[in-house]
Amino acid sequence: MKVKELLSRLPRELRRDGEIILSHLLRVETSRLPLLLESEVPPEIEGRFRELIKRRGEGVSVAHLIGEWDFYGRTFKVREGVLVPRPETELLVERVLELIPPEEDREGFEIGGGTGCISITLLLERPRLRMVVDDINPKALELIRENARLHGVEDRITVLEGDMFEPVKGQRFDFIVSNPPYIPERMWEKLPDEVRREGYSSLIGGRKGYEFYERFAVDAGVYLKEGGFVALEIGHDQGRVVRELLKEAGFKKVMIYKDYSGQDRVVVAWS
Ligand SMILES: C[S@@+](CC[C@H](N)C(=O)[O-])C[C@H]1O[C@@H](n2cnc3c(N)ncnc32)[C@H](O)[C@@H]1O
Repeated sequence: MKVKELLSRLPRELRRDGEIILSHLLRVETSRLPLLLESEVPPEIEGRFRELIKRRGEGVSVAHLIGEWDFYGRTFKVREGVLVPRPETELLVERVLELIPPEEDREGFEIGGGTGCISITLLLERPRLRMVVDDINPKALELIRENARLHGVEDRITVLEGDMFEPVKGQRFDFIVSNPPYIPERMWEKLPDEVRREGYSSLIGGRKGYEFYERFAVDAGVYLKEGGFVALEIGHDQGRVVRELLKEAGFKKVMIYKDYSGQDRVVVAWS
């Protein structure tokens, strides 16, 4: 069957997902698929395509079906139980990059690395940077290591298992970055199935949702070098509370940045 026939038989709501899945199976960029509409799809790929579309209909995300997802223009391996990189997290990376001089040695710490997309992107954009990254989820640690190897930065990243600052006791960093879980627990049941497959600990921040920032604000200063900064992704309605928590903990300057839809999304604070 031709590419165009296979795609045109999909219900409208599955068309875009179908294009991403088919280009993944054909190993071409999705943007090149329109050039291949008249090409014949080999029968084994057609079979695999139908299988994946069926699972998509059962609520598995496209990212988990194809096992990879793009972040900051690069492809990262993804797996069930670990957060799929989100486009809004690129804003967090951009803010941090603005604060790391390209020609100087720096050492950063990331709490809750997930796929490793934040730390690995920072390392690729700043060749003199070193990162330590932790996570409480062993599946995430495995993925961070795999993605670090895939992108050739394994010699500049240290991956540690543990809760928040516990694996880096006694160390100090130029900056600390995190996109922590920040959704209130009452929302768990309301999340779509495909989001819940990313795992409770990836998403849920506690009863209020902002419990991570409460613990973070109290401890972070101890792990920062003088003049260091912290950069955090936050929920759209958490700007005010996170600013207060950081101010109370002694951070002098706190900046809040909005995402493209005008919602509070990133906090940067200096000790
Ligand atoms: C929202 S995900 C972010 C993943 C990745 N950094 C990203 O931006 O795509 C939060 C991550 O923090 C991890 N995590 C949750 N609580 C943690 C804790 N107390 N200490 C370390 N990691 C934690 C989760 O397992 C998950 O991988």
